Amino acid sequence: MDLRPLRVNGKRLRNSLEELARIGATPAGGVRRLALSDEDRQARDLFVSWLEELDLEISIDELGNIFGKRAGTNNGLPPVVSGSHIDSQPTGGRFDGALGVMAPLEVLRTLHENNVETERPIVIVDWTNEEGSRFAPAMVGSGVWVGALERDWVYDRTDRNGNRFEDELVRIGYRGTTPAKRWPVHCYYEYHIEQGPVLEEERKVIGAPKGILGLHWFDVFVTGEANQVGPTPMEGRRDALCAAAEMILQVNQLPERMGGNMVATVGEVRNAPNSRNIIPDHVHFTVDIRSWDDDHAGRAWKQVREDFEDTAARRGCSIEIEETWRVQHAEFDEDLVQQILQIAPELGYSHLHMVSGAGHDASYMNQVCPTAMIFIPSIGGRSHVEVENSRWEDCEAGTNVLLHAILRSARA
Ligand code: GLV
Ligand code: MN
Ligand code: MN
Repeated sequence: MDLRPLRVNGKRLRNSLEELARIGATPAGGVRRLALSDEDRQARDLFVSWLEELDLEISIDELGNIFGKRAGTNNGLPPVVSGSHIDSQPTGGRFDGALGVMAPLEVLRTLHENNVETERPIVIVDWTNEEGSRFAPAMVGSGVWVGALERDWVYDRTDRNGNRFEDELVRIGYRGTTPAKRWPVHCYYEYHIEQGPVLEEERKVIGAPKGILGLHWFDVFVTGEANQVGPTPMEGRRDALCAAAEMILQVNQLPERMGGNMVATVGEVRNAPNSRNIIPDHVHFTVDIRSWDDDHAGRAWKQVREDFEDTAARRGCSIEIEETWRVQHAEFDEDLVQQILQIAPELGYSHLHMVSGAGHDASYMNQVCPTAMIFIPSIGGRSHVEVENSRWEDCEAGTNVLLHAILRSARA
């Protein structure tokens, strides 16, 4: 059977993405589907019902990762795996993660209706808590699955209201029984929106990243002394928020100071008691440092950490720092990346070899099996925002590339 003309159904892909986006839809056109929330449960239920329609072998592991397996003609062979995540940022978009789950679903539907048999089985996956926004760190479903994170450490992570990860997983009915332990995988593909401006600027439709930047997350706790703002002189104050404000700018200035390829961000701040007439005594903020060069990021962190300590001492505050997460940069499988770059023009799509600045479950999968990603443009380079958008024809194009990449890899 000549499979070269085979194409996915772009309309059906769009319908699935739109139906999923109704769960947790925000008035501004985005989604709020935080990991292990009621919305996450609803989205999972819908996803599982779609897997059932395809007669896949469904399994849910103890981290809540959902797998659907389509049999091959030789089920002794390790499968080709593709997926992403359906949790979102608090004010997230409709495509981040969702596209990478709905697209392999569309691939499986296409194979199903065309009675296409593959030699290797194909597995679709929805990884738990990729975003790490409600429960830090990110990518814990894949992280535990590949053996990089401890299951019980993840179970004990809490959200800002003190809810435990495991309790929330049980509450939404998705703590499965299969061990979250890796089994042999032939290769892993993750399809995603770019989340940056490069493809649009270069006017290309398909991106094939050579890999993903290393990610370094820290939690910083600054303690000062609270007091009445009126009678307390400016001199001698131990204002935790002022100390944190200086530190936040030190993070912002770090990439310029260090040079090289790096971005550094403080995205989350909590100030206590957070009253306009009390000097703040407790501030918590997060630091996210990303670079292709893990050592460079390590040196940058050492530098900024020293600055934090100096700043805290000068302002009479104490400081506690936790390293929350570190994932080394991922260099994808060269053959798979080249395969994506080859398939794109064969299907008539322009293409670009690039780098992923965003983190993905593919980072962890890359540690255990040949891995590659497919990107399509993000309109205006915007992502992790409610206006996040991509063209439907680009969504379809990337899914066609995914279809043919999976078909090629599913040959023994
Ligand atoms: C994942 O969403 C990231 O932080 O890049
Ligand atoms: Mn994502
Ligand atoms: Mn994201």
